Amino acid sequence: MYSKESIRNIVLVGFMGTGKSTVGKKLARSLSWSFMDTDAQIESREQQSIPEIFREHGEAYFRKVESEVIEQVMNDSKQVVSMGGGAVLLERNREHMLQNGLVIALVASAEAIIERVQGNPDRPLLQGDLAERVHTMMEQRRGVYDFAPLIIDTEQCSSEEIAAQIMKLIE
Ligand code: S3P
Repeated sequence: MYSKESIRNIVLVGFMGTGKSTVGKKLARSLSWSFMDTDAQIESREQQSIPEIFREHGEAYFRKVESEVIEQVMNDSKQVVSMGGGAVLLERNREHMLQNGLVIALVASAEAIIERVQGNPDRPLLQGDLAERVHTMMEQRRGVYDFAPLIIDTEQCSSEEIAAQIMKLIE
């Protein structure tokens, strides 16, 4: 069991479309903590949308900014932080998360993810053949969310149920 008092931040990680932002906002409201989304922070810092950053500067540049944002955000406390799906790829980022918060991974099947992200133009890495992209990337990223001490299967649950489940774990 965890207690709210002993947790500095809650950090939500997981593949695109696992519901990190939706769950995170609900959780932050329940805890009366602030909500932080690293993608939104990157966009406001760069004054560009995520697709624009990928298009104009490339993924390597995006990852560099993402790391800087993670380091900065994790300095603060009493926040629910929703991380971009690829934020876990760098060890340095994972360390910042683990050192400054309770990391929770949200997981779902490829089929559920495909259904959730269909028609959304905001994810540059999923453009083209969506099903092929999701399957390939999930395969490439197999195991990368396992560093989280808590893993929650979101397949059959609403975002309210997942937020309630997390609240129960930390109260
Ligand atoms: C990415 C996930 C996205 C965003 C960017 C790259 C990834 O965030 O950071 O498009 O590499 O998985 P979401 O997981 O919030 O969609």
